[in-house]
Amino acid sequence: MSETVLTAREGRVAILTVHRPDKLNALNDQVRDEMLAALAAVERDDEVGAVVITGAGEKAFIAGADIGEFAGRSPFDQRHAMRSPRIFDVAATFPKPVIAMIQGFCLGGGCELAMSCDIRVAADSARFGQPEIKLGLIPGGGGTQRLPRLVGLGQAMRLVLTGDMIGAAEAREIGLVDLVVPAAELRERTLELAARIASFSPLTLQVAKEALRASERLPIEEGILYERDLFCLCFSTEDKEEGVRAFLGKRPAAWTGR
Ligand code: COA
Repeated sequence: MSETVLTAREGRVAILTVHRPDKLNALNDQVRDEMLAALAAVERDDEVGAVVITGAGEKAFIAGADIGEFAGRSPFDQRHAMRSPRIFDVAATFPKPVIAMIQGFCLGGGCELAMSCDIRVAADSARFGQPEIKLGLIPGGGGTQRLPRLVGLGQAMRLVLTGDMIGAAEAREIGLVDLVVPAAELRERTLELAARIASFSPLTLQVAKEALRASERLPIEEGILYERDLFCLCFSTEDKEEGVRAFLGKRPAAWTGR
């Protein structure tokens, strides 16, 4: 039984909640292991079309890596703690869409986990930052790579080199989050978005995510060719035939995931 990552289901959406509210949901080794196990379980579950990751309580999404684990730790022990698979990479390559639902503090490894998700929805009261510099550290969960891709190099430099926190409105303005909603509506609005996504063919969602993720690593010419191949791959599915026939027949599509 997982103690620090709770799994709930609402329709075709799985909600994974990091549950260490007394430590502002800081990521320790147990959370990482249990998050990987929870993700593996929902990956296998055909009834799950999309995943929402969030933190328990109103005060924090995740306030970063558990700083208590850093004290006195050797580089080799830290390297072991950062061994693959890592939650950040699993979320980014997960075959189903992953949405971060962010309230309160979203700092350090919490911000990095949010950045590795496919879409970020934040409460208007959420606070973001990469404060590692204040600990004599740098971001280690992909922050120096994913942050500049989302917000540009200058804004990433500003956030990482100062460790300053920014509010949700500014995070939206610079592209760190995709949607900001009133805090009281965060759950409803995020689950509505996730449910709408999860209602589509899981095969098509997987291919769409793969094509979009390829844009992070491929030069545009290669990305366009890769997209063409993935587009043509969709022609092998029953769901493409169903979607097209449903449109032509003026009826809703009934996806089978085949
Ligand atoms: N690691 C371990 N424990 C953490 C934590 C973290 N990243 N963030 C918060 N906590 C713990 C606090 O130590 C405290 O525990 P305690 O009650 O046993 O003393 C508890 O969570 C509540 O946090 P507290 O600091 O009392 O809340 P606050 O409202 O005064 O401040 C923050 C909130 C987020 C500003 C502050 O907790 C903070 O700066 N956290 C560290 C953020 C960080 O540097 N993250 C990057 C890590 S690489």
